[in-house]
Amino acid sequence: MTSEPDHVAGEPLVVLEDVNKHFGELHVLQNINLTINRGEVVVVIGPSGSGKSTLCRAINRLETIDDGRITVDGKDLPAEGKALAKLRADVGMVFQSFNLFAHKTILDNVTLGPIKVRKQKPAAARERAMELLRRVGIDSQASKLPAQLSGGQQQRVAIARALAMDPKVILFDEPTSALDPEMVNEVLDVMVDLAKGGMTMVVVTHEMGFARKAANRVVFMADGQIVEESDPESFFTNPKSSRAKDFLGKILSH
Ligand SMILES: Nc1ncnc2c1ncn2[C@@H]1O[C@H](COP(=O)(O)OP(=O)(O)O)[C@@H](O)[C@H]1O
Ligand SMILES: [Mg+2]
Repeated sequence: MTSEPDHVAGEPLVVLEDVNKHFGELHVLQNINLTINRGEVVVVIGPSGSGKSTLCRAINRLETIDDGRITVDGKDLPAEGKALAKLRADVGMVFQSFNLFAHKTILDNVTLGPIKVRKQKPAAARERAMELLRRVGIDSQASKLPAQLSGGQQQRVAIARALAMDPKVILFDEPTSALDPEMVNEVLDVMVDLAKGGMTMVVVTHEMGFARKAANRVVFMADGQIVEESDPESFFTNPKSSRAKDFLGKILSH
């Protein structure tokens, strides 16, 4: 592990203040205020099209915002260059579609970022990558190409790849939605372990089991707004807004 600056669990790490974003006429993020503290696991849930992915992408600056402010560890998001590469290393992202490099081995997928962005020596990067692949249960597949692995295995590699950068926070955007049902739990188990280990995580998911086991907070989004926030148990058993009630009724009834 590279050394982290001194930090205190519970301090604000990612802060969004009055964030607005439009896609043309569509007001996709509407005055979003959200603070994610160090060591906190926040589940973001809500109907398709409510702005969950855009929210994650804005935190990673894959999308710009129109106004408002986003800070990570007290610093405004950089616009470009080396500072932006550093931000992307600090803010890991795991996508629904894995996004592994198809023509690189599993091991190379995990070492690429640490070598290029974190300037680690290749031998040290490989050693650390193998340790992380062991942690997610994929070390025996290190020399294979992504297509030779199952979806669940590829997603665990994507998690190892994010971890290899020693991120301050990892954003997960529907990490199990593209998986066959029997592979969902192997990925969620890795995520629960990370959560219990103190990783700061923002997780867009409808997996209530994960939210109940690992989340400190559930944020419910609809139509570009944060409609309510509460602890998982209160949210799932006693949602306050009619939109959350309606949404939960739909996802619980199938
Ligand atoms: N690059 C884009 N250009 C135009 N509209 C977009 C773009 N990305 C997302 N949208 C629209 O913004 C809304 C929110 O999208 P998204 O953040 O992906 O929602 P969610 O992840 O909650 O399903 C949707 O209506 C979507 O069609
Ligand atoms: Mg989405």
